[in-house]
Amino acid sequence: MIDQTLSRRSFSRLMGLSAAYAASGSFPLANSTRAASPSSTLVRLSSNENPYGPSPAALRAMRDSFHLAWRYPDEYADLLTEELATLNSVPAEQILLGDGSGEILKLSAAAFTGNDKKIVIGNPTFEAVARHAGVANAEVVKIDLTSDYRHDLNRMLAATNGAGLVYICNPNNPTASITPSTEVSSFLTKVSPTTMVLVDEAYHHYVETKEYESVIPLVKNHPNLIVARTFSKIYGMAGLRCGYCVTQPNNIKLMKVHQIFDSVNIMAIVAALASVKDPAHVAQGRKLNTEVKRLVCSELDSLGYRYIPSHANFMMIDLSSKCGPSSNCSHAATPTVPSIIAALSKRGVEVGRPFPALPSFLRVTIGTSSEMKSFLNAFGAVMG
Ligand SMILES: Cc1ncc(COP(=O)(O)O)c(C=O)c1O
Repeated sequence: MIDQTLSRRSFSRLMGLSAAYAASGSFPLANSTRAASPSSTLVRLSSNENPYGPSPAALRAMRDSFHLAWRYPDEYADLLTEELATLNSVPAEQILLGDGSGEILKLSAAAFTGNDKKIVIGNPTFEAVARHAGVANAEVVKIDLTSDYRHDLNRMLAATNGAGLVYICNPNNPTASITPSTEVSSFLTKVSPTTMVLVDEAYHHYVETKEYESVIPLVKNHPNLIVARTFSKIYGMAGLRCGYCVTQPNNIKLMKVHQIFDSVNIMAIVAALASVKDPAHVAQGRKLNTEVKRLVCSELDSLGYRYIPSHANFMMIDLSSKCGPSSNCSHAATPTVPSIIAALSKRGVEVGRPFPALPSFLRVTIGTSSEMKSFLNAFGAVMG
């Protein structure tokens, strides 16, 4: 059983972290109604949500705004646009709000792909934009990541002839790996200005390495660059649906014609406005994610599992690393990822779906310390 394998000290530190944060009251959902999961016993580590929830200021802002529900949100959307422009040091006309960053991806596919304009993406990556491009009859060209899980931008560049859109997810989902910003900026200088480049920075706030930087400052000099951001991850607002992009005004014009009016609702807007004014909550969320992730990694190290170094709030564990041909594991063969996903689910732990490009890897969201304890216990039992 994993309980015997896990070091007591690590787990008491893991549990201590949770208790300290709950006692500080900084993470409202950590010690109150954790309504995120329809089942109170299910440990959901499948969607890269932020288990600590929104900033207390965002919750307050929503409670204080019920009386605004009868009005269309135009003025508040303008306020948020201004706020995001200030936050990112760009003019307000370079900001487009979306119903989650998912809407930004959809608008990008609608505006810049089609049957004569293909899309080039990494493999594996977050596939939503490719799905939307497919609906627009665009060819989807998938380029495998490098052996160290960066986007292979040289090969992606070579595939851009006739491409309407290139999608770079940084950090990448599902690998939680980064593509160094020097490589992304060099790619931008080489790609045709008629090909749009969509850089998805959904997990931006979790990154701590200096090799990564946001490419938002490059929008000024690259009319073909769109940078997507979300309030679903570090800001803990996945259920509210708010995202945005930074890009030049002409692109916004082309994207907006595909968007419904007022696609971001008033509750999401007031919560987002309060969230951007609470940078301490962002820093604390990043710190806690890093600390819990570090302890999970150290337990996986002691169990002998390899994983891709994670720069986000989820990680990929290689199930074959313990059971591969050169190991002394007692299994006849590596258990398949779908079978492990199903076995974990039976024990009340939901993890990410299988990714065919990386068939031996399991994607697991970094939850709270107690959720990760449940995961490690269940993982030990099903892999045992
Ligand atoms: C890389 C990436 N981009 C975009 C999204 C969509 O996020 P949302 O629509 O909630 O902003 C997700 C969701 O998991 C994601 O992983």
